[in-house]
Amino acid sequence: MKVLIVSSELSPIAKEGGLGDAVAGLAPALDALGCEVKVAIPGYGHVLENCPGAELITENVRVSMGYFNMTAGLRKVEPAPGVEAYMVCNESLFGRHGVYGDNAGLFMDNHKRYIFFSKSIPALCSATRYIPDVILANDWQTGLIPALMDQGHMPQTASVFVIHNIGYLGYVPPEDASMLGLSNTYLTYEGMEFYGQLSLLKAGIAYANKLVTVSPTYSREIQTTEQGAGLDGLMRKRSQDLAGILNGVDFQVWSPETDKHIPCNYSKTDMAGKGECKKALLNEMGMDPQLMKAPVAGMVTRLFSQKGIELVIGALPEIVESGMGFILLGNGEESYARDLRRLARAYPGRFRFEEAFNEPLAHRIIAGTDMLCVPSLYEPCGLTQMYALQYGTIPVARATGGLADTVRDIKAFAGKGNGFTFDAFSPGAFANAMDRAGRYYKNRKAWSALTAKAMASAGVFTWDMAAEQYYSIFERAVRARRL
Ligand code: ADP
Ligand code: GLC
Repeated sequence: MKVLIVSSELSPIAKEGGLGDAVAGLAPALDALGCEVKVAIPGYGHVLENCPGAELITENVRVSMGYFNMTAGLRKVEPAPGVEAYMVCNESLFGRHGVYGDNAGLFMDNHKRYIFFSKSIPALCSATRYIPDVILANDWQTGLIPALMDQGHMPQTASVFVIHNIGYLGYVPPEDASMLGLSNTYLTYEGMEFYGQLSLLKAGIAYANKLVTVSPTYSREIQTTEQGAGLDGLMRKRSQDLAGILNGVDFQVWSPETDKHIPCNYSKTDMAGKGECKKALLNEMGMDPQLMKAPVAGMVTRLFSQKGIELVIGALPEIVESGMGFILLGNGEESYARDLRRLARAYPGRFRFEEAFNEPLAHRIIAGTDMLCVPSLYEPCGLTQMYALQYGTIPVARATGGLADTVRDIKAFAGKGNGFTFDAFSPGAFANAMDRAGRYYKNRKAWSALTAKAMASAGVFTWDMAAEQYYSIFERAVRARRL
């Protein structure tokens, strides 16, 4: 089976969040199953600069953007062993540094950038005479592809669309509709029209042969009015074509035994290194050394409303005053960052806010803390809680989406728990869960039994298992495309 994965992110070369990790984990797992996998991402300026040897495959392929044409080029890169990746290049749209934006904020022409990227895929496949059996498109950035295929492009190829986050609709201003290259029937309510706008995400959901989302619980949640972001009706209509497949963990990248970013490796049978990681982290982050004996929580996140940052801001005084330490690595919305900076000034040595995107530090926090917080408003899958489990760091998570599928509260799942969960989206509920975790930590024997259980529970999050489920969706998509 020939599979082309089309994505706006691919770790480690172009990562903004979990999408990059998910594509980088799935591609080699599908390859190991016997699929011939290629990944296509945009040729972002900063990524191309880091890949000087990227082999030129083709250039000057014409891509119609409605009233005008643009040209696409294709370069081959190998971001990690076993991943065959191609970058779709266009200097004016992707030559700049940044995936979705830069220090000045999000790029204003993102819809145009990803319409171009999506339209270049059929054009480049045809120019290079490559006919995949399946295109796996991911999130709004590639949502146009299934619609183009439905309209007749790539008739020998089936489309599968993965919803990593239904909250990002990918709006296209109606005046730019001509860029899409779709006939008017696609621009209606049955198609991609969404409350007077056009949504690239809705296009992907409406027209793909099969749909996947990244956890079983989220696949049910997005069919409800509360969590369907206005697309719940369409999700219910397409429920027979929708599967919830939990993301895996790339154990080559996220494993305390081999992790190159952490100061001391450790394993289930030899946990001494975890203490060393904590000591080094406290030191690196300028935390009070007394916290070596107290619970220290970590959080690695984008600072956006999805992530429950207001719960952290609301509960932090109580958490820190109870004697816990807290280290938060994240960047994003300024209003959250401002509050977090203020709290960091109020609690020096007890709360550290590191405002950055820093992959090695993310590893050191996940290894060096005792608990990892994920108090999300909603969470399609969530990866940091799975990484934390693998590192014997106990998740404290809101029971939503993929968090509910991966974190089992020690109370509700007596003997089988691997963390602490809470339900209400409130600072009080979060503080209460943190308090329960903090008290549990004091019983050192019980806590080390819990870390052992957590580490054992992470073993099931394999990309191999996810890849098998994707494979069966591909087979069904191919059958559906033939009908
Ligand atoms: P989302 O994709 O919604 O951001 P996930 O939990 O699926 O959430 O994935 C987030 C990924 O991005 C994880 O690999 C996490 O470690 C990483 N990440 C998020 N924020 C940062 C940051 N500030 N620095 C480094 N890595 C980060
Ligand atoms: C999205 C979701 C996150 C998920 C990731 C990878 O960014 O917000 O929950 O883990 O995609 O699928």
